[in-house]
Amino acid sequence: MGQVMVVTSGKGGVGKTTAAANLGVALAAQHQHVVLVDMDMGLRNLDVALGLENRIVYDLVDVIEGTCPLTRALIVDRAHPGLALLPAPVSLRKGGITPYEIMELVAELRGRYDWVIIDCPAGIDRGFRNAIAGADRALVVTVPEVSAVRDALRVVEILREVQLPMQLMINRFRPRMVRAGSMMDLDAILSILDAELLGIVCEDTRVVSGNNLGRPAVDESGVASAAFRRMAKRLMGAQIPIRDPSRSRPLLAALDALRRVSG
Ligand SMILES: Nc1ncnc2c1ncn2[C@@H]1O[C@H](COP(=O)(O)OP(=O)(O)O)[C@@H](O)[C@H]1O
Ligand SMILES: [Mg+2]
Repeated sequence: MGQVMVVTSGKGGVGKTTAAANLGVALAAQHQHVVLVDMDMGLRNLDVALGLENRIVYDLVDVIEGTCPLTRALIVDRAHPGLALLPAPVSLRKGGITPYEIMELVAELRGRYDWVIIDCPAGIDRGFRNAIAGADRALVVTVPEVSAVRDALRVVEILREVQLPMQLMINRFRPRMVRAGSMMDLDAILSILDAELLGIVCEDTRVVSGNNLGRPAVDESGVASAAFRRMAKRLMGAQIPIRDPSRSRPLLAALDALRRVSG
């Protein structure tokens, strides 16, 4: 039986789709069978992040409504053996689905894959409630900004209420800004969110180009790529310590401090 992980956030644009795509690819590279389910109805972009947008014929609402069997809606990612995508509908009209229908769909998927990763809409509305319906665990994504962390706290509180185990991913972390005191540091974020950390992904332009080119950053080298690979291994149970990127390079930290002193 596969594990079902929902990727959520309070605020939009913090990196949920990026996390879902890159963790999916990284898990598939570890010989896991993974299906990515796009539940960001009406806004789908997981297909674009994976470069699969031209291959969509059916979506998950077609499956739920019985228009097509599950196997016909699933898109097998030829670039990443072991990875498949179940796309979201583009039209919001097709959004009238219930948590029960999602639970049924997810139950079928978990029988076929090691990992079912659900890309969720931002916020705590109905789409979020649907997306968490069949999940075993959640990954809450935030960026180190006060408003995003505050919105993430709301999600963390709800996940706690429904007793869904969760982990945290801090995205777009900028060590130099943290050292300069102009970005929230790890302690500040964790003191507000108080959840187990799965990983920290630094700001990396290769994430943007990867998303635009439909080639997830984890396929290339780079800091974000390495971070996603470590996170995938942690999901599989590997004990890999999490380093604070703002503290791991003492020489750079000393240089930043010197710069501050000298104005
Ligand atoms: N670590 C990162 N470094 C640089 N850009 C990033 C990073 N993570 C995400 N982005 C960019 O941020 C934007 C929002 O990411 P996305 O995954 O679409 O967020 P969400 O799904 O939460 O709305 C995208 O343009 C994406 O390329
Ligand atoms: Mg998204």
